[in-house]
Order: sequence, then C-alpha cells, then structure tokens
Amino acid sequence: MLKARIRIAFFITLLVGGSALAQDRVTVIRAGQLLDVTSGNLLSDQLIVVRNDVIEAVGDASRIRIPNGAIEVDLSAATVLPGLIDAHVHLTSDATVNGYDSLARSSIRDAIYGTYSAGQTLAAGFTTVRNLGASQYGDVALRDGINDGEVAGPRMLVSGPSLGITGGHCDSNLLPAEYDFNAGGVADGPWAVRQKVRENVKYAADVIKFCATGGVMSKGTTLGAQQFTQEEMNAIVDEAHALGLKVAAHGHGTDGIKSAIRAGVDSVEHASILDEEAIQLALENNTTLVMDVYVSDYILETGAEVGMLEESLAKEREVGAIQRESFRRAHEAGVNIVFGSDAGVYPHGLNGRQFARMVEFGMTPLEAIQAATVKAAVLLGLENQAGILSEGAYADLIAVAGDPLDNVAELEAVGFVMKGGEVFLDELSGND
Ligand code: ARG
Repeated sequence: MLKARIRIAFFITLLVGGSALAQDRVTVIRAGQLLDVTSGNLLSDQLIVVRNDVIEAVGDASRIRIPNGAIEVDLSAATVLPGLIDAHVHLTSDATVNGYDSLARSSIRDAIYGTYSAGQTLAAGFTTVRNLGASQYGDVALRDGINDGEVAGPRMLVSGPSLGITGGHCDSNLLPAEYDFNAGGVADGPWAVRQKVRENVKYAADVIKFCATGGVMSKGTTLGAQQFTQEEMNAIVDEAHALGLKVAAHGHGTDGIKSAIRAGVDSVEHASILDEEAIQLALENNTTLVMDVYVSDYILETGAEVGMLEESLAKEREVGAIQRESFRRAHEAGVNIVFGSDAGVYPHGLNGRQFARMVEFGMTPLEAIQAATVKAAVLLGLENQAGILSEGAYADLIAVAGDPLDNVAELEAVGFVMKGGEVFLDELSGND
C-alpha cells in the first residue's frame, strides 16, 4: 500500500516535470507549525514557497506573497521540518540476508535491492543519506540512478568499497583459503591504502570509509582489536583530504578509535567503547561521532531469526550496552554527535526509531533532531543546502501529525515527504 503510493506520486511527478520542462514548478506549502531546527522555535502559520528544487521563500503566512499558478499543499494541521539526514546507511544491504546466505547474493542483485530500500528510506522522511560501504560501486550506480530521476530515493553521498586490512571487518572472511577471495577495498601498507583511496575517487566516491577495528557482523574479528596501523590511517586521511574527500572510520574498540581520531578522520562510526581520553581527543580534534544506538535492539531481538552468525550475536551482547553508555558520556562532554543508523543491518525505513533511543540516552528531542538535520548537513558538507528550511536550500521537507519536540517518536511516522520540490509521500495534506 505504502509502496504503491510512493511509486504513483513519483511517476506523476516525473510526468508533470517532463511535460512542462520550460516552466518553473512552483509549490506553496502551508505549515500549521514549522520547526526552526537551528533555534528550536516552533513557528505557527508559515508558508514555504518552492520553485523547482529549491526553497524560494519561507516566513509568516501574512507576509509571503503566493506566486500565480502555484500548487498549494495544505499542511496546516501538521508540523513541518527539514528532510532528515542519516549519516550511516547501507542501501544495498538487505537486513534479512546474513552470514553464509550473503555469499549467494551478487553485487548487482544488491544494487537492485537498493532501488527498493531507497524508496523505503525516502518514504520514512530521510531525504539525504551517507552510504558507507558497498561492493562493486553498487552505491555509485544507485546514487546516479536517483540523481537521473529513474529511482525514487534520497540524495546519496557514497563511499564505494570500504578500505580494510586483510582479514579485517571490511574484508569478507566467510570462505576458506582455497577460494582466495578478499573484498574490493582490502589493502595493506601506506601506499597500498593511498592507491585504494585514489581508486575509489576514480570511480566517483564522495567520501572515504575505512575500518579501524573489528566489527559485530564480520566473521573472525575482535571488537577491541585495532585494524590498520597509525601510519596506514594517517596515509588514508592525508590522501583523501588532499583529494577533497572526508573520511569516516568504523570503530568499536578504544585504541582503533583513538588512532583514527589522531589520524584526523572527520567522523568515527559506532564509537562504541570510549574512555575519557577518547572523548577528550574527539573534543580537541572536532571529530564527529556517528553512533547507531538503535540497531542493537534489532540484532539482539531478530538477529538469530534472520541468520546472523552466533559470533555476531555474542559480540553485540557485549557491546550494545557499552555503546549506549558511551553515547551518554560523549554527549554530556559536548562531543558533536550526528544521526547514523546503520540501516541495512536492520530494515530500511525504520531509521527513525533511533530518535527515541537518542533521547533515552541523554539528548533532548531538539538535539536529536539537530543531529539528523543541521549537524548532519555539516558533516556531509551540505550546510545551508540540506537539513535546514531557508531560502536557497534544497526543497527537502517532511511533516508529521504531532509535535516532535514533545514526542520525538512522531518521527517514526512521517506523513509527508518532499525532496527537491517533488512530493514523494502525502498522507497529511488532503491534496489528491
Ligand atoms: N555494522 C556494525 C558492525 O558490524 C554494526 C554494529 C551494530 N552494533 C552496535 N551496537 N552499534 O560492527
């Protein structure tokens, strides 16, 4: 039902867009409440004028002139806020395919799955995502298909294959030696990792991801063990930054997290086991932490059913609670934390469930919303373009029926989604 609605909305938009190429598409949205995510103010009775894919004007309904011929969208009974941003997803990963079953999935099949998960993600109100790790550049293909208007999905920043050591979390360790298989981003040594960065840039990645420690979902890796030496991490960050790309490091264990921060990464993903020094280092280096504090629930409740390795479940039982405590402490210390869910390990479209967890572990609802809007936009290099409703920004906006500052779980039930001026989901306005 939901899927059908998204598709219909998408194709109608394509038809309208296609037949009126020369003409501007102007939409005026009437917002009963509008959340200014920067100030935290809920403003009543606002108008947002959208021309083509950007916001042309926003302000009090009494002051904004409605352009002739504009399509009106009445969200006067709803709360409007910027489209949400998830800084850590895997759109080409199906959460129900795990362990040895994953060996039977081709990268092409994964990319086709991505055309489905992209729609689920967009319909959940996430109009921008950062995709951190995909084999065979399936993420690049998906991003380009979305940008070319063939696939309904969020704006994507993509990493291509994650860099990792031989046998590490970002390798594939399921097959025995005679198969002689390793994942596309595996490299050992400073020059070899620089070459991988260059390769990912060559094939059009937007960001570089590497694995600084073991992980939960990988076979044979230890959460606490550092992967890559300091020298290798320095080389990755130096090369990526020289080429103008930011760097995200997967890290659970304390040593690997600290080395990644010292190397100058822009964000640490998961950031599970933080001591005081790690928190201080993050503060001093202005490092952002992207902490997926919901996914543990799914792994522990559903992991066995969907075929996750017993080894992974055991690691999650150890790390889930520690990560949530680290989240609380890092947030209290004032570390910059951005919203990232690791959707793909859990089903796409449920990204919004993380908000309630972020509030449970110490954020105010506004802080959690800022982590998925203004702050995430800065990490992605999209400040003033995404995560904000202001003149000149992308017309990416969502609406919910209630007040998310009162109950942040409202964001689990987004009822209206516009991306780049196109309506992808509308269960709130009463428009046809
Ligand atoms: N992709 C991550 C890994 O395999 C998932 C970690 C999930 N657990 C957590 N507590 N955040 O390591």
